[in-house]
Amino acid sequence: GTPAVRSDKTVTLTIDGKSVTVPEGTSIMRAARQAGIAVPKLCANDMVKSFGSCRLCLVEIEGKGGTPASCTTPAMDGISVNTKTDRLNTIRRGVMELYMSDHPEDCAACAAGDCEMANMAETVGLKQNRYGDEGANHLEPSPIGEHGVNFKELDVSNPYFAYDPAKCIVCSLCVRACEEQQGTFALTVEGRGFESRITAGMDEPFLQSECVSCGACVQACPTGALQEKSIIEMGMPDHSAVTTCAYCGVGCSFKAE
Ligand code: FES
Repeated sequence: GTPAVRSDKTVTLTIDGKSVTVPEGTSIMRAARQAGIAVPKLCANDMVKSFGSCRLCLVEIEGKGGTPASCTTPAMDGISVNTKTDRLNTIRRGVMELYMSDHPEDCAACAAGDCEMANMAETVGLKQNRYGDEGANHLEPSPIGEHGVNFKELDVSNPYFAYDPAKCIVCSLCVRACEEQQGTFALTVEGRGFESRITAGMDEPFLQSECVSCGACVQACPTGALQEKSIIEMGMPDHSAVTTCAYCGVGCSFKAE
């Protein structure tokens, strides 16, 4: 969900009728998980600071208006939170429908059940996509280094992984993982709407960035937009395992037969 918080003070709140006590400053999302409740999410994980961009983790707080993001809203003493109302379910399905309209239907990661976003669409009960996949068209890779990348072009400049903007929902998890896990400021978001994509800044491909190929961005990506080339070329592995080496401490997935 979101990173752990250390504090001597605690707060006690109710989530979906369950009482839970957490260190002050803990997000509602993390408190919910402690209570055994999984709030739908795409742009949050335990490793990086929350950003609140995907809008899937919205909750309702009794007595307060609006639908705040549970990943960026701290748990407060005495509040009562609902994570599963009809209104929230409708909002989540609407948000997921828009994301799926910007995601190619022929995505191998989705087909293999390895796309967090496609799995989340199922979790929130999305059964239709009224908008088609208009924004999802991608272009073939073209030589990198001769010119910058354009907004729909695959970035295959890194020897180990590729970036497909057609699958990207610009949640910025990769940018935050690069900065916070690896301490490198290699990536940024450029453009708006269907034209937004991750670049190394100034419309440049990944390889021309400070990227050290640690794989933190690939691990963080919830959509298959960033994927190891070995997986793209050889198909999805039957099994995968996560290992951590002394080199970077981030952990890499490897193909296991
Ligand atoms: Fe909270 Fe994305 S997980 S807004």
